[in-house]
Amino acid sequence: MKKDTYILGIETSCDETAAAIVKNGREIVANVVSSQIESHKRFGGVVPEVASRHHVEEITIVIEETLKQAEMTFKDLDAIAVTKGPGLVGSLLIGVNAAKALAFAHNLPLVGVHHIAGHIYANRIVAEMAFPLLSLVVSGGHTELVLMKEHGAFEVIGETRDDAAGEAYDKVARTLNLPYPGGPHIDRMAAEGEVSIDFPRAWLEEGSYDFSFSGLKSAVINTLHNAEQRGDELKPEDIAASFQESVIEVLVVKTMRATKEFDVKQVLLSGGVAANKGLRKVLEEQFATLPEVELIIPPLSLCTDNAAMIAAAGTVLFEQGKRDDFTMNGYPGLDIEQF
Ligand code: KG4
Ligand code: ZN
Repeated sequence: MKKDTYILGIETSCDETAAAIVKNGREIVANVVSSQIESHKRFGGVVPEVASRHHVEEITIVIEETLKQAEMTFKDLDAIAVTKGPGLVGSLLIGVNAAKALAFAHNLPLVGVHHIAGHIYANRIVAEMAFPLLSLVVSGGHTELVLMKEHGAFEVIGETRDDAAGEAYDKVARTLNLPYPGGPHIDRMAAEGEVSIDFPRAWLEEGSYDFSFSGLKSAVINTLHNAEQRGDELKPEDIAASFQESVIEVLVVKTMRATKEFDVKQVLLSGGVAANKGLRKVLEEQFATLPEVELIIPPLSLCTDNAAMIAAAGTVLFEQGKRDDFTMNGYPGLDIEQF
C-alpha cells in the first residue's frame, strides 16, 4: 500500500502569512492564516515594507501553530512546499528563506510553487481533478484563463492586458470611499443595488480570451465625477451593482466560450475574487445548463490566499519528482507556463 504523503506549505507572497499541512494533496490536516489586512487598511492598500516586516514577525509563530494543530513534528513530513513567485519580492523572500532553513535543518526536500498554481490546486481539496480542465483565475494580481491537460502543466489561453479583476474591485471601492480590500464591500453593496448604469464591457478582438478592466474602472470614476459636478445623487449600491455586472458578464461569457472550444471536463474557479457571491451565482446558473461539465468552486477560506493550496500544488510537483535546491530565490515575475 502506498504511504501517505504529508507536505508543509508556506505562503507569504502578499499580505497573509500562512502555513498548512496537507495529506496526499487533498486533505487539510492544519491550515493557519495570519492576515495583515488591519495594518494595511489605513494606507488603502498593501505597503510592501510593512508586509515584509509582518511576515518576519509572524512566520515562525504560524509554522509552529500549524504543527501544533496537526499534532505533528518535522519528522512526520515528506517535504516543504513554498510560494517562490509571483508576488512582492520582500514578502516572498521571508517564506522562501524560512522554507530553505527548515528543509536544511530537517533534511527535507524543498519544492517551490507558483502562487497561481496554488490557487488552482485549492480546488483539488474540494474534488479530484479531471483533465482537460479550465480554471478561471481571478485574484488581486491576476485574471487568467488557464487550460490544464495534465497535472502540473499550465497553458494560459487568456489574461488581463491591464488591471486584474481584484485590482479593479479595489480601485472602484476606493473611489466609493470603502475600506481596503474593497472586493467584499462592493460584493455586499451590489446585492443591495440595482443595475441602473450601462458600464462598458471590454470584449477585445473577436475570439480573444484576454481581459481588460482599466476602461471599466475609468468609466466608473468618470460617472461618479460627472454626477458630482451636476449635483446628481448616485446610489453607491447602484454603482456597485452595475460595475459588478459588467465584470461578471465578461468573465462568465469568456469562460463559457473557452469551456466549449476546449471541450473541458471541469471548470475551476480560483483566486480571491472567487469569493464573490455574484460571480459564484452566475457561474452556477450558467453551468447548470451544461451538465456534462463539472463546475468546482472552493469554499471562501480556500479562495483568498492560504498555504493549504500551496501544499496541495506542492504535493503534485513533489510526486512528479520536481525539487528546488538552496539557490531558490523569490521570483516576483514568475511565469506559470515555465516555472
Ligand atoms: O487571491 P487573493 O487573496 O490575493 C492575490 O493573490 O491577489 O485576492 C485578493 C483580491 C482582492 O483584490 C480582493 O478585493 C478580492 O480578492 N476579493 C473580492 C472578494 N473577496 C476578495 N473581490 C470581489 N468580491 C469578493 N467577495
Ligand atoms: Zn492570491
